[in-house]
Formats: sequence, structure tokens, C-alpha cells
Amino acid sequence: MATKFIENLLKKKTADEIISESKSSGLKKTLSAFDLIILGIGAVVGTGIFTIVGIAAQGGPNGVAAGPALIISMLVAAVACFFSALCYSEFASMIPTAGSSYSYTYATMGEFAAWMVGWILMLEYAIGNIAVASAWTGYLFHFLKGFPFLPSWLLNPPMWLVNDYRSAIAVCEQNGLDPHTQIPYIFDKIPFAVNVPAIVIVILVSLVLVKGVRESARWAGIMVAINLSVIMTFVVAGMFYVKPENWTPFAPNGLEGIFMGAFIIFFAYIGFDAISTTAEETKNPQRDLPIGIIGTLVVCTILYVTVALVLTGMVPFQNIDFQAPLAHAMRLVGKNWIAFIISVGALAGLTSVLLIYQLGTTRILYAMSRDKFLPRSLQTLHPKYQTPAFLTWITAAVVIAGALFMDIGISADLCNFGTFTSFIIVCIAVIILRKKEPNRPRPFRVPFAPVTPIIGVVCCLGLMICKLKTLSDSAILFPVWLLIGAVIYFAYGYRQNRLAELRVIARQRLEKKKTQV
Ligand code: ALA
Repeated sequence: MATKFIENLLKKKTADEIISESKSSGLKKTLSAFDLIILGIGAVVGTGIFTIVGIAAQGGPNGVAAGPALIISMLVAAVACFFSALCYSEFASMIPTAGSSYSYTYATMGEFAAWMVGWILMLEYAIGNIAVASAWTGYLFHFLKGFPFLPSWLLNPPMWLVNDYRSAIAVCEQNGLDPHTQIPYIFDKIPFAVNVPAIVIVILVSLVLVKGVRESARWAGIMVAINLSVIMTFVVAGMFYVKPENWTPFAPNGLEGIFMGAFIIFFAYIGFDAISTTAEETKNPQRDLPIGIIGTLVVCTILYVTVALVLTGMVPFQNIDFQAPLAHAMRLVGKNWIAFIISVGALAGLTSVLLIYQLGTTRILYAMSRDKFLPRSLQTLHPKYQTPAFLTWITAAVVIAGALFMDIGISADLCNFGTFTSFIIVCIAVIILRKKEPNRPRPFRVPFAPVTPIIGVVCCLGLMICKLKTLSDSAILFPVWLLIGAVIYFAYGYRQNRLAELRVIARQRLEKKKTQV
């Protein structure tokens, strides 16, 4: 009985099954390596570099700051990503499927691990979007400041209508205000605040997705062009205001600050893994996916390191803003018009990340429902647009509900925990498949395996442990999330999969009987 149970947990889909499923998807193969890099930058450049960079440098409410050593934190995070990116490249070129790490895990570690990876990916995509939506609000107000003739209720709304309750309290404390005078309290005890602009943008993005937006390379190209020009404008204009004395002390919190900064800024790199989900739409996946994944990472690292240098050189690290740091830095040196341009670019970048991530969430949930881990009703398509409308709205509801309770720091941390875990699993999966199927054709091979994937695991695990040790809210919520996932699997997915197996056996018996008659 126990052996059967364990056998079931470890039931795999073969790599060939997954490849043949994805071949029958009928998606058009139109993307080149260049398109993939553009899509990758569209998925990667967003909240991390426009907002979270401030938290990583300055520490944010109650955090440990990297200070000017942010540039080292960025390189540490990039190294952790690089080893994982090599492993993603090996898989993506070998099993080109839209299911990405969820499918790779199904092929190597079986049913339970695959469900858990899918569940963890929800942290990356859905909970990550809470952070992106909160950051969107921050830049919206910097954008609106460009129109001083607007009514003051729009330019300076009550803080409880544009923040979650944690951020509202943090803002009060920072400004020496009594939260009781600024935020309504339910029964005089529970603070109530709701980030209305974040909710509105999530609803708008969902409406667009229900109508059916495909991640066309052209659309992503426009967003990326705006994004990159704005970041370069910041770097070039900001360079003239760099004061080298702002770089000392270089690492005010030593190694602890550097590693905490690396954990936080890792958020900025997340998204290159999403390139592997376009595998079924890539012209030459074997060659182009590795180029797309690694190319995106290299471009973003160069971009991020220059932004970090300029930002920490322009503003003493204690004064770096943690809601809209780049725009704020430009305002400090009197360049309000550049701050305005930055807010336009940030809004474009954040909106594209929101769209791609919400699309990713529905795609993975759809695949999990097809694999019987979730109810079939989730696959219901919109009668007119043929999009998974029901799932899109469920995802939106989760993001909106989450945004009531989580601030940008907690949601970004949870997203990081989820992504680190899926990177670790992909690195381990490479080692397993090399052992089990050494002769399977691998158009791209991770060099020096298994050493390289092991270094990937160590880097990701190391940064996770640094954060877990702090016992912060996110460090406690992460294991809780895993536990909820395991409970859902045993209460639903496990049983549904066994029932489906019984139905297959019954059908086979019936067919056999029919042929005998
Ligand atoms: N890397 C993505 C961003 O920074 C998640 O918004």
C-alpha cells in the first residue's frame, strides 16, 4: 500500500510524451532568437529596476541595506541566475514545451513534485504581480505630478486609498504621523487601507487578456524600446550628478547587507525563465532558446549594474526612495522633466510585466487543470474570445485580495522564494535526466555538469537561507504556502489522478470485451 502510494507520487510523464503533446498544440512558429531577447527583456525589466532597487539599496521599512554595494548584490544575483539559466537552456532546447519547469519536473521527478512546482510558480507569477501592481501605483503618482493643474484630490489622495495597510502605516511612521489620524480602523482595532490604482490596473489588464492579447513580439518590442530608452536616459543624465563620496561607506552592512540586497534584487532578474514557455512558438528552439535566455540575462545585468552605479552615486544611500527611486533621484537634482519621462517608461514596463505574468499564471493553471490537478471547470473558455476567461478573473481576484494584505516587500520576497525554488528544481532535474537518459539528444549542454547545476543549487539555496534566517513575515509565509499546496494535492489532485487511471483501465477493458464479441 505504502509502496503503491509512493509509486503514484513519483509517476512521470516521459520526455517524449511531453514533446509529442507540445507538437500537437498547433501554435505558429514565428519567433527568432532576437524576438526572444526582446520578449525576455519585456518580462524581466520592471518593478525590480524601477522600484525594488531602492529597497535593496536603502533597506526599506525594517530591512538591512546593501548601500552602494548594491552593485555587488546585483552581480551575486546575476551569478545565481546564470547557472540556472544554463540549466533552463538545456531543458528548453531538449524538451521545447510551453509548460517550462512544471513539465521538466513532471518528466524527471514525477507527479507530486510537478504539482508543487506548479503551485510554487503561482508565487512567482501571481504573488509577484502584487508587487508589480503596488509599484505601478507609486509611479502613477510621479506621472500625475507632471500635470500640476490636476485637482488636488487626484494628486494627493488619502493615503489609505493608495496603499495597502502595511505601507500606509510605514508611511505614517516615516513621517512621524499617528496612523489613527490617517487611516480608518475597523472596530477601532484593524487598520483598513486599499490600493485602488493597483486594483484598477489589475482589472484593466484582465479585461485585455480576456479579449485575447498574444505576446506578440511587435507589441513587446514597443514596450521594450520605451523601457530601455528611459533607463538609458536615467544613466546618461544621472552620470553628471554622481558624487563619488556617496559610494563611501561602500558596504555599510557588510556581507549581510550584500546578501540581503542580492536576495531582494533577484526579483529584478526574474522573467528570463518565462522565455522557455514560448518554446512551441520558436522557429528553431534548439538554437534560439539558449541564445534568448542567456542573451536576456547578459543585457539585463549590464543595464542593472550601470543603473545601480549611477543611483547610489547620485543619492546618499540612506536617502534613496523606496517607492519610485529613479524618478525621485532625478527630482532631487531638479530634473523634474526627466522624472516625468522615467515615470512614463516605468508605467509601460510595469504594465507589460503585469500582462506577461498574468498570462503566465493562467497558462500554468490551465496546464495543471488539464493534468487533473485542478477542476476541469477552470478550463472554461470565453464563449466569444475563446480565452480562459474564468481563470483570468480568478487570478485577478487572488492578486486583488493579496494586495489588501501584502506590501511590495512581502510579495516580492515570496515571489523570490518561489522562483529560487523552481530554479533549484530545474538544476537538480538536469542532473537527474543526464543520469537517466544520457543518450537523449541535447542541442545545448550545460558545460561542466554536474558541477555547474550544483553551483546553481548552492547559490540559490544560500540566498534563500540568508533570508529564511531572518524569520521575517515572508520567511514564515513561504513554508505555509508549501503546506497549503501539499494539502490541496492530497485532498484533490492525487485522488483525481487515480480516478482518471481507473477510468482508463475501465475503458480499455470495455474495448477489449467489444473486440472479443
Ligand atoms: N523582473 C520582473 C520585474 O522586475 C519581475 O518586474
